[in-house]
This record gives sequence, structure tokens and C-alpha cells, in this order.
Amino acid sequence: MSPDDVVEEVKKSGLRGRGGAGFPTGMKWSFLAKPEGVPRHLIVNADESEPGTFKDRYLMEHIPHLLIEGIIVASYALGSNTSFIYIRGEYAWIVDILEQAIQEARNNGFLGKNILNSGFDCDIHVQRGAGAYICGEETALLESLEGKRGNPRIKPPFPAVKGAWDRPTVVNNVESISAVVPIINLGGEEYAKIGVGKSTGTKLISACGNINKPGVYEIDMTISVEEFIYSDEYCGGIPNGKRLKACIPGGSSVPILPANLLLKTAKGEQRMMNYESLSDGGFQTGSMMGSGGFIVFDEDQCIVKHTYTLARFYRHESCGQCSPCREGTGWMEKLLWRLENGQGKMSDIDLLWEIQSKIEGNTICPLGDAAAWPVAAAIRHFRDEFEWHVTHAEEAQVRNFGLAHYADPIQPIPA
Ligand SMILES: Cc1cc2nc3c(=O)[nH]c(=O)nc-3n(C[C@H](O)[C@H](O)[C@H](O)COP(=O)(O)O)c2cc1C
Ligand code: SF4
Repeated sequence: MSPDDVVEEVKKSGLRGRGGAGFPTGMKWSFLAKPEGVPRHLIVNADESEPGTFKDRYLMEHIPHLLIEGIIVASYALGSNTSFIYIRGEYAWIVDILEQAIQEARNNGFLGKNILNSGFDCDIHVQRGAGAYICGEETALLESLEGKRGNPRIKPPFPAVKGAWDRPTVVNNVESISAVVPIINLGGEEYAKIGVGKSTGTKLISACGNINKPGVYEIDMTISVEEFIYSDEYCGGIPNGKRLKACIPGGSSVPILPANLLLKTAKGEQRMMNYESLSDGGFQTGSMMGSGGFIVFDEDQCIVKHTYTLARFYRHESCGQCSPCREGTGWMEKLLWRLENGQGKMSDIDLLWEIQSKIEGNTICPLGDAAAWPVAAAIRHFRDEFEWHVTHAEEAQVRNFGLAHYADPIQPIPA
């Protein structure tokens, strides 16, 4: 197969990037600029810092050779002789697993010069990050890879034109690149028959929260959300027979859905575990497949508290380049702290709404959106719970959700 044939098979497979945005992988590859004499790079994004998402870790821990094989095939398709795996700092032990698998591939002649007499050279380097969520954003990743502070770049130019060291670059998720192997083995058309509609192939879901069987599941995107939560094959239901309250279906940055909109769409159809069904209704009544981090909340969970912890995370991880994100994430955290602890006012809920709406779409990178969406969805679907924290201030104050230790570093805003 020629490199273009490989790209064509990936296009036919309908594979959508598994890192969160779901952009078609084959199309992304075909955008790669190919100026004469300029090296190109493939970079595998193994930063995996989205709260609730731990599927790439599973792949790298258990079948590192699948990823290595995927990198070799993708590098051949893209003309990358030097490819990188950029991995989050906290996955230190996985670096050893990857290094060993890479060495084994080298020893067997699958990496290095003139691989299997094909005339193609390729090597893979593993680069450890220092543990910053923003370094998963592709342009921040490139900056970090180049040894600089991981600040996102303004786009355009996109990495396909000007990426690592200003060379044309493709950044793909671990799961996306691992999927290249079955695509080439089966053929793009066969692969596209797995799944449904534009949700082709299989998808790894990392499930956690109030479920009996947390873990990483491979699904073919034809099952319903209800089946995923309640069947013994997957999450095994909710502990102690508690009721389902809500779920974040695609990692912490995607909108939370209350149980009624999670199990059925606003049209009354069964909500399915695929890209189209999870986003049915837009953000008004739907959510996103995202990175597949599935976080379940039972009836005892406080949505205001969980929204606060997420806001705290995004404030901490903002790189600080854009004012709406730098300032807005801090204000959202403080307001949520105040509300959660029974010190809030009704007007704080509207202020929170306004701040999130000012962040969305007004920043250099999507971390701003990722910080705004959880807050917007929580207010949209659970406004009564926010209001309860104001009308039942004393009860809210005496509840102990174990957040007290968070109080010190962040000063609550004055009443
Ligand atoms: C703040 C932020 C963090 C991200 N973290 C990751 C990550 O850890 N892994 C990942 O694959 N993509 C992450 N992404 C998405 C990447 O920017 C990029 O879209 C993705 O790696 C492309 O791969 P794909 O096309 O195979 O999905 C993140 C995006 C943002 C905005
Ligand atoms: S949105 Fe936030 S994280 Fe992204 S560039 Fe702006 S300040 Fe940095």
C-alpha cells in the first residue's frame, strides 16, 4: 500500500478522533502540508488529564504494541520519520512500558532504518510532560514538546501547516492511533460496518462514579446509555439500589445531563452510547461523547459541590493567557464556593451564568469552553439545587462534604 492508500482506508473507516472533539482522522491526515524537503511529524497525545478519562492509560499499560504498530503505520502514511508520544508526567510507569515495547520493535526491525526493506525509516521518542492539563491541548503540547511553557498557540496556522518546530504535524489521541491497526487489517469499509452512522468502530469508555463496576469498557456504539449503566456486562447498576441522578458522559468538560435526559433524548427516544445520540438536542438537552469519561452520580450527590470541584480544577489548570479564562474561572470557583457553603445570594446564580457565557468562545483555546460548559449545564438542569443552597443556607452550611480543606488556599469572596 502507498502512504496515500493508507490515508484513504482511514478515511473510508469513518474513524473520528478519540481525544474529545471527534474530528475525522482521515480528513485531518489529508490536511497535512507536504512541502518538499521539510520533515513532518506524528505526535501521539497521551496527556490524558481530563478528569474521569483513563482509557488511554489502559491501552498503553496492557497493549503498548498496538499503539506502536499504529504509530508505525500512521507515520508511514504521513511521511513522519521521527514520531513522538507525549505522555502525562504522572504516568511514569507507563513510560517504562512504552520504552520497552519500542525497544522490542527496534530489535525486531519494525523501527529504525529501512523497516522490513520498505525503504521507510521511522523512530519513536517518548516525551514526559510535567503534569499540566493544558498540555493536552494540541498546540500547548507542541510548545511543551519543544521545551517551552505549555501555552496554547493562536490558530491559524494549524499544526498541519506549522506544528512541532514549525514543521507540518499531526497530533492524534492514543486510542485513535491504536484504531489504525484494525482499520488496515480489516480494510476501511469493513471497519466502518462496526458501530452505527457516523460513530464507526469501537470506542473505549472509562466509567466511574456511583456504579458497581467502574472500569474501561470497549463498546461498539450500538448500545443504549441505560444498558451501559445497568447491565452486568458493563457498569452493573448503581450501588445500594440508589436512583440515578445525573451523568457526565464524556469527561469533565462536557455538559452534565440529568437522568431523564440521559436515558431518553428530549424527543423521547432512547439515548444511545454514540456521538450522534449523546449530542442530540445540542447543549440545551444533550451533551457530547467527548473523550468517553463516563461519570455517574446517584441521588445523594450534590451537583453544586461537584460543579465547584470542577471549577476549581479549571481555575487551577488555566494557563492564564486570556483574561476571560484566567479571571472567569477564578470568579466561577469563588461564586460556587460561596453558594455551596450557604453563603450565596440568588443573584450569584445569574452572575455565574453570565460569567460562563462570557468565557465560552472568547478564548485562545478550548479550555475556556471546557470550564464554562459544566457550569452552564449545571445551572440549566439543576437551578433548583443552586436556589436551595440560598434558601436553605443554614442547612447548606452544616453539611460536611469534605470540602473544608479546600478553603485555605482560595479566599472566598466577601459576602
Ligand atoms: C484543555 C485541553 C486538554 C486536552 N487534553 C487532551 C488529552 O489529554 N488527550 C487527547 O488526545 N486530546 C486532548 N485534547 C484534544 C487535543 O487538543 C486534540 O484535539 C486531540 O489530541 C486530537 O486527537 P484526535 O484527533 O485523535 O482526537 C485536549 C484539548 C484541550 C482543549
Ligand atoms: S483559554 Fe485558558 S487555558 Fe486556553 S489559552 Fe486562554 S487562558 Fe490559556
